Amino acid sequence: MAPIVDVKAAPLPFADVQPSPESEASSPAPLISEAEWQAKKQKLEKKIQKYRWGVGRGDEAAIIASMRDLAQGHADAAVQAHWNNRADLFARWPEFGKAWKNIAQGIWILITADARVVNGITPTATPALSLSSSMTCSSEDIVLHEDHMETDNSDGLALPPCAPTSSDVFTTVHTEFGHCSNPDYRYVSQHTPGTPVLAHVEQDPPYYILLSTYISYLILICLGHIRDFLGKRFHPSSYKHLMPSDGYAPLNSDFDSFYTRRLKTRMDECFSQPVTGVAGRTIQLLNRISPDYNHNQILTDERTRALNISSYNYLGFAQAQGGCADAVEAAIREHGISSCGTRLEGGTSDLHILAEALVARFVGMEDALISSMGFATNSAYIPALVGKGCLVISDEFNHASIRFGVRLSGAHVRMFKHNSMSSLERVLRDVISQGQPKTHRPWKKILVIVEGLFSMEGTLVDLPRLVQLKKRYKFALWVDEAHSIGALGPRGRGVTDYFGIPSGSIDLLMGTFTKSFGAAGGYIAGSKVLIDRLRVRGHSGPYAEAMTPPVLTQVIASMASIMGVSPAGCTNSNGSSSTINQVEPHDHAFRAPASALPSWLHLPSSLADGSEGLSRLRRLAFNSRYLHQGLNKLGFITYGHPASPIVPLLLFNPGKMNMFHWMMKDRKTPIIVVVVAYPATPLVTSRVRFCVSAAHTKEDIDTVLRACDEVGDVLDLKHGLRKSDRWTMDEISSRALELINM
Ligand SMILES: Cc1ncc(COP(=O)(O)O)c(C=O)c1O
Repeated sequence: MAPIVDVKAAPLPFADVQPSPESEASSPAPLISEAEWQAKKQKLEKKIQKYRWGVGRGDEAAIIASMRDLAQGHADAAVQAHWNNRADLFARWPEFGKAWKNIAQGIWILITADARVVNGITPTATPALSLSSSMTCSSEDIVLHEDHMETDNSDGLALPPCAPTSSDVFTTVHTEFGHCSNPDYRYVSQHTPGTPVLAHVEQDPPYYILLSTYISYLILICLGHIRDFLGKRFHPSSYKHLMPSDGYAPLNSDFDSFYTRRLKTRMDECFSQPVTGVAGRTIQLLNRISPDYNHNQILTDERTRALNISSYNYLGFAQAQGGCADAVEAAIREHGISSCGTRLEGGTSDLHILAEALVARFVGMEDALISSMGFATNSAYIPALVGKGCLVISDEFNHASIRFGVRLSGAHVRMFKHNSMSSLERVLRDVISQGQPKTHRPWKKILVIVEGLFSMEGTLVDLPRLVQLKKRYKFALWVDEAHSIGALGPRGRGVTDYFGIPSGSIDLLMGTFTKSFGAAGGYIAGSKVLIDRLRVRGHSGPYAEAMTPPVLTQVIASMASIMGVSPAGCTNSNGSSSTINQVEPHDHAFRAPASALPSWLHLPSSLADGSEGLSRLRRLAFNSRYLHQGLNKLGFITYGHPASPIVPLLLFNPGKMNMFHWMMKDRKTPIIVVVVAYPATPLVTSRVRFCVSAAHTKEDIDTVLRACDEVGDVLDLKHGLRKSDRWTMDEISSRALELINM
């Protein structure tokens, strides 16, 4: 195998002086007419851009000739040198290819190096978009306060576009939590009373897109089977793990591993991207390359900072700096790292009790329990509630943790069509009238489980109709608010808050702390008697390690920041603290009393008075709506509710997933996205799933929209609105406020 070289440091035959675009603009006139030269240049740049994206491979000679032609057509020596350098670089591509014995790698070196010339970076300089391997993570993360004006901002991610004024409290690092002081870029996440809940409508792409998607899979499957057939006969050593040997069954079933080996591996570049540092507004990618078509991925020791539109950091509390991080540090000094025990066996501390009381108050229920893992909150507590003789009615798109819990419980399961209340009602009528199979006895319990906000579709549960059905058919209702808690509603209390429905209408509200709270673990809230029963019957209580003090503190600090804290000793008629009420809608009943927080925990005033929390809720609501509406106006097919911070954009074709991921990452301002495909989605509806955060600024969303606009044109992804109804990117950006109020 060819030695691994630092691709970004590959020696390049450039002159030392690279003309900047400005110097080109002010250079002497070209020998041909200015307009003609510019037109030629534009055409060539487009060709090079396409080449970067994989179109026109093998056409290097023509590109080189055009570059030389462009150089000769200009009178300025600097411009000539610039284009001659780029031509020299393209001429060297077979050399790179040979060195790597892999054309893809050669092309990658070429592309990266060419990008450096275009950006005007000399070969000796640190590449603008990647971080030198000698740089430590912490120094890179902290250096980015706005007062460090020397910070390299060539990727546009390190510094805010407008310097904050002295009245702006800028306590966060811009790369972790973007600075956005414009009060216009805020929105309130709230359902308009009396309007119907938006149904989940799946917009179909043109037939040729569906056809080409099916054909792509068909080709991949046929080729995969042919390769397996021949490989097993002519190269059996590579297939040992798939064939019985020495009396032992195969380690992997051939059918199970087919998808992974023959389909997923081909596009593994877009999955499981390793990262480091804080998963905030930006994130550092650990660059990797594969010398053998993704069978192995090798880290290059380089990092790229990218705009992070893929983490569940909805309210931006995933921070290494700021009030919550300071509180966590204090917690470690006060309580250490671990409880070293299970909740029912010596692991329960005062922090657990405080956190559970705070969660119950936050979601508006009588009591709550917390568990150290969100997945296990569903999978360990559903079996504590239902069992043999019970029936669970589950939305067809419910999360794996719910399915797993239901399977463990031994209860019967029926599914209904995603978010379709008429489908649920049909199932209810059927199961109630028929009773248990064979005996036709009434069910011991009927439990309906739904998610508040569905993580793959971005759809919001039709809670008003669901609550009506509950009243009519008297079933128990479990709502998983993993993605909606903290992210929806004027006070961030989730779907009940969004629809203005009292929490008491639901029996059990489940949620996780991994998303909006930047922590870990999950909770279940309900009536005291029910929660007490779950505490002793759920497997987490006696068997799982209790949540650790730093994580508990992050939960308490972030939740209290959303609620606002009432000063000690002030209680209103509800028994909750009050006196000041500056921050509407944080009225007293919804605030956290000071006594609900550990005595050593001190939040900065902007967090304690709830103003920062409120601003985050409104920024998230603005960003979510803006991205949603913007993508629709650009002509893309998206799924989900406009209030949802999860915005899925449909890609359909499996080949486009890899390309989309790569093209977004390969920009001047790199953007990291998550693409999802079968089996997480139906076969033909592969998608990119944007996760918006309060940490993003309006400019960040513009950056994402602009990138989608350009990439969408190249990959033919705009199958939503008709061309005549679309808006241009400039229109979207300048009419953002009009757009979000549509
Ligand atoms: C709906 C739903 N429930 C539960 C979970 C599990 O939560 P966690 O990731 O905190 O374990 C997830 C995870 O994303 C989820 O989407």
